[in-house]
Amino acid sequence: MKYPSRIPVLIIMLAFFSSPLLAFAEGLTWKESPEERTQRMAWFKEARFGMFIHWGVYSELAGTYKGAQIPGIGEWIMQSAAIPVEEYEGYAELFNPKFFDADEWVRIAKNAGMKYIVITAKHHDGFALWDSKVSDWDIMNASPYGRDLLKELAEACRRHEIRLGIYYSIMDWHHPDAQAAFYPSYNSRTLSNPNFRRYIDSKMKPQLRELLTEYGDIGILWFDGEWVADYTTEMGKEIDAYIRSLQPEIIVNNRVDKGRQGMAGINREGEFAGDYGTPEQEIPDTGLEGVDWESCMTMNDSWGWKSNDTNWKSSEELIRNLVDIVSKGGNYLLNVGPTPEGYIPRPSIERLQVIGEWLKVNGEAIYGTQASPFKQPDWNGRYTATEDALYAIVFERPVWPDGWLNIPQPDGFSSQSKAILLATGEELKMTSNQGTVYINVPDVLPDPTASVIKITLYLGHYCHS
Ligand code: GLC
Repeated sequence: MKYPSRIPVLIIMLAFFSSPLLAFAEGLTWKESPEERTQRMAWFKEARFGMFIHWGVYSELAGTYKGAQIPGIGEWIMQSAAIPVEEYEGYAELFNPKFFDADEWVRIAKNAGMKYIVITAKHHDGFALWDSKVSDWDIMNASPYGRDLLKELAEACRRHEIRLGIYYSIMDWHHPDAQAAFYPSYNSRTLSNPNFRRYIDSKMKPQLRELLTEYGDIGILWFDGEWVADYTTEMGKEIDAYIRSLQPEIIVNNRVDKGRQGMAGINREGEFAGDYGTPEQEIPDTGLEGVDWESCMTMNDSWGWKSNDTNWKSSEELIRNLVDIVSKGGNYLLNVGPTPEGYIPRPSIERLQVIGEWLKVNGEAIYGTQASPFKQPDWNGRYTATEDALYAIVFERPVWPDGWLNIPQPDGFSSQSKAILLATGEELKMTSNQGTVYINVPDVLPDPTASVIKITLYLGHYCHS
């Protein structure tokens, strides 16, 4: 009679020991099958284009300290101008973004064709843009604003169906157990704080818990500042597993661990936590087999608002960057640095509008597409692909041979294949000869920045015979 009563216990134990919960219980790294991974990453691969938002107390300084313009990126001013912690806290008392309108920001991102947003909930200065019970160095206590900015943004994202990602800096220039102790060299890569573990346990993990339990589903956790000396690969793996125990579907960038190779952003050989590589201000030369990645880039030269930085990239350059990145299988995380009042700068909005208009016409060649099956063409442009189409994205009409694009003949190409200009629906003249397809493009392309030609393929068509 004793036997049957034990069976449920056994089943529960079996279920527990074979489940991912075990990994968390033992603090091991996250385990999932390749199919589960593909599924979890699917929205991110489909999305291709997101908005990075760098915003915080540093925006108040706007690149200027005591009347002097400080060289370097805006959000680093606490380090670049060596501002002591207490004095920096004074700027939080001024940070009062009266005109912040979460819906408006989300609308700007959506109209640009962006599918997700990643905001600096906590940057290197340690300041929390949300109502943190863990630390008074937050928007509710240290600034007169007193509204949970993150909550408002999270709700707007939900209303407009756009994913929200959170940037969280591991480095913390405000916390005495972290890098605040290193003033004036907050960013030291060699100094060690013997109390760093205490910072992880008393601030970082509890704040991550707040972010992952009080703001709904979070699409991405975007770490940064992993280069500090006290942060180890073991801590990275522990944090990674911790996050996934709170939101198993979340995507985590590779800066959660110590594998990233500088600005190129891709991991070196080894076992590292994180789902994808993070090239910064760079686009890799080629696609990277089996590696997911996202290039984050600025529109001017700073991430955080810097009033005198007017070195804006043209919308042409931004659109071509998007195309280049997607043709290599990556995502584009394009930054805006709002003002302390809460406005996204006008030059950013203008550029985002142009990109959005381009995507309305040509988005089919971007969203959900795969990397080019071919190396870069010898005409000026790129390829992207899906199961049933190849997209030739033309930056400039080829002058030689006059107006003809040559393309290696893709799988699934047949006499039924057509070449269509996405912008107008016009069918273009196309011939093929000995493994090369030739397409004649019009004298004037519909878009001087990038015009898309869709070449229809019949892979699926042939499969089921
Ligand atoms: C760098 C900078 C930081 C910025 C980030 C974006 O690591 O430290 O200010 O947030 O790049 O990728």
